[in-house]
Amino acid sequence: MKRTHHCNELRLEHAGQTVTLTGWVHSRRDLGGVIFLDIRDREGRTQTVFDPTMTAPALCDLASGLHSESVVEVTGQVRQRPAGTENTKIPTGKVEIVAGTLVVHNRADVLPFQVDDPDVAAKVNEELRLKYRYLDLRRPEMIHNLRLRSKVATATRVFMEEQGFLEIETPTLFKSTPEGAREFIVPNRRDPGTFYALPQSPQQFKQILMVGGVERYFQLARCYRDEDLRADRQPEFTQVDIEMSFIDREDIYSLIEGLLKRVWKAALDVDVPTPFRRVSFEEALNTYGIDKPDTRFGLELVDLTDDFKSSTFKVFSGAIAAGGVVKALNAKGLACATQGQIETMTDYAKSFGAKGLAFIKVEGGEWKSPIVKFFSEAEKAALQSKLAIEEGDLILFAADQWLNACEILGKIRLYCAEVLQKDGKLKLDPKRFDFLWVIEFPLLAFDKEQNRWYSSHHPFTAPVAEDIPLLKNEPRKVRGQHYDIVVNGVELGGGSIRIHQPDVQKTIFEDILQISPEETRLRFGYMLEAFKYGAPPHGGIALGFDRLIAILCGTPSIRDVIAFPKTAKGTCLMTDSPAPVTPRQLQDLYLEVKAARTEPA
Ligand code: AMO
Ligand code: AMP
Repeated sequence: MKRTHHCNELRLEHAGQTVTLTGWVHSRRDLGGVIFLDIRDREGRTQTVFDPTMTAPALCDLASGLHSESVVEVTGQVRQRPAGTENTKIPTGKVEIVAGTLVVHNRADVLPFQVDDPDVAAKVNEELRLKYRYLDLRRPEMIHNLRLRSKVATATRVFMEEQGFLEIETPTLFKSTPEGAREFIVPNRRDPGTFYALPQSPQQFKQILMVGGVERYFQLARCYRDEDLRADRQPEFTQVDIEMSFIDREDIYSLIEGLLKRVWKAALDVDVPTPFRRVSFEEALNTYGIDKPDTRFGLELVDLTDDFKSSTFKVFSGAIAAGGVVKALNAKGLACATQGQIETMTDYAKSFGAKGLAFIKVEGGEWKSPIVKFFSEAEKAALQSKLAIEEGDLILFAADQWLNACEILGKIRLYCAEVLQKDGKLKLDPKRFDFLWVIEFPLLAFDKEQNRWYSSHHPFTAPVAEDIPLLKNEPRKVRGQHYDIVVNGVELGGGSIRIHQPDVQKTIFEDILQISPEETRLRFGYMLEAFKYGAPPHGGIALGFDRLIAILCGTPSIRDVIAFPKTAKGTCLMTDSPAPVTPRQLQDLYLEVKAARTEPA
């Protein structure tokens, strides 16, 4: 059962050789009694011919009865295809194999969808593809994605090894820690009422490894988070997780720039220029309305607060009087937006808390808008110069508290870019990758509902040294030594320099995050204790590996780069998990299910 060649190997120079191919029947055609089977394996496909004048008729019958995706082994002689029958679309298209023997290893049934259709992904709904994932995986795109994933994992390991990092596995049976995403918990049979939790990331273990003297750690680590799922989020996912001792932020920046340079070269043969641009959190919000800006296009946000302070348009001046700002963006070329499209945009903005979405359309030399009549000449002049208004533009405004106004327009900016792309007015080069570091995040953010502070990144992030005295009285002003790496508007990774002094860490837990001393001791006691026995200054980062691969593959969904992903509802349609367990299993775990099960929709 050994192949002599793979299905993407045979060329004219092999003509006359007897070869054996193994693989799946990609397609079968019957041309007046001559059967053509295209045999496909991971590498490509090759045409085989069953001609009753050259091949035993019984074999021709066998071939003619095969469904696509049956697994076969064909031995025969390579020949040049007759003139006019070459297939220029595939590398093996100049040759074919005249079949001498055919072994059917597995007959495929009628398929739930056609694997050989190049548009499967567009035509067949994803749920069906996930249920029959093994068929979906046979598609060349999927094989390509998995191959690239493997290649990047290898390139990452080689690079990290060269840089002196040790690859170390950390436990995936961990314990529940507050202050993060919701966790998956695992009941412990040996001590009823106690639970493991699957780690959201190896954060605490990697810091302890630094205390353990490892100095440079990395891992392609599996992480688990029970959060709302989207195209870029899975309940279990992989991080390139990194931690280093005796370093500062600059060391992380240059390490990651080197790693991404290596990976982009290995995967796409693209030379990524370094160092990457650095943008502060505040600048990112001010200019792009988001902390992970896509800088491949303009549509930048402009601040108009000073210009509209005393405007007679109360929506603007009122917002400013209430401590807010007025911001706008010029959606160049979108004046053609219909009333319906503007209403859609307004509703979209409102779904993010906007009170409205004032606009001006510039058409036929006129500023068309219900609000322009309220503007003074000076206000109009300020708009004209700050937004470089031209025929065909659509100006959109948000008047609100600073963060809200930025975030609302940030969402509208992305929406406009999408519309412009669909209209063909904005073209993005698929080989363009805008990397940037977002830095100087606030250490803490305030949760109005819960009336408490929480960590913007996680509670182990070190404050910027000179801001430590502000912690107790002006926590809002404290900057964290946190950085995010962003590419084309995707948050690829994030990390920070950590706290390594037990007293600072205790202040964060107890005074700022209001975790009781008892809870702190229960949840993090071992960390605080470890820090008492020689904790080096340290820091690290984690890159979302699935997101990294999705970007390299040019797909918006990380499901396309994970062999067996979960649906948006967190289910695996192929294995039908999660699933109930037997009463006996529950009993062994001292568990009782109280809610009635609702069948998944
Ligand atoms: P953070 O929570 O920012 O940091 O995660 C790092 C990166 O992991 C990816 N990621 C995800 N990918 C897929 N599905 C998910 N549900 C998901 N959640 C996160 C993102 C993200 O940028 N321990 C810290 C890192 C550190 O401080 O060193 C951490 O986990 O790409
Ligand atoms: P109104 O006076 O409420 O009818 O609003 C006039 C215009 O301003 C409408 O186009 C609203 O969508 C818009 N608008 C209202 N509130 C805001 C706001 N806070 N920011 C931006 N535009 C607003």
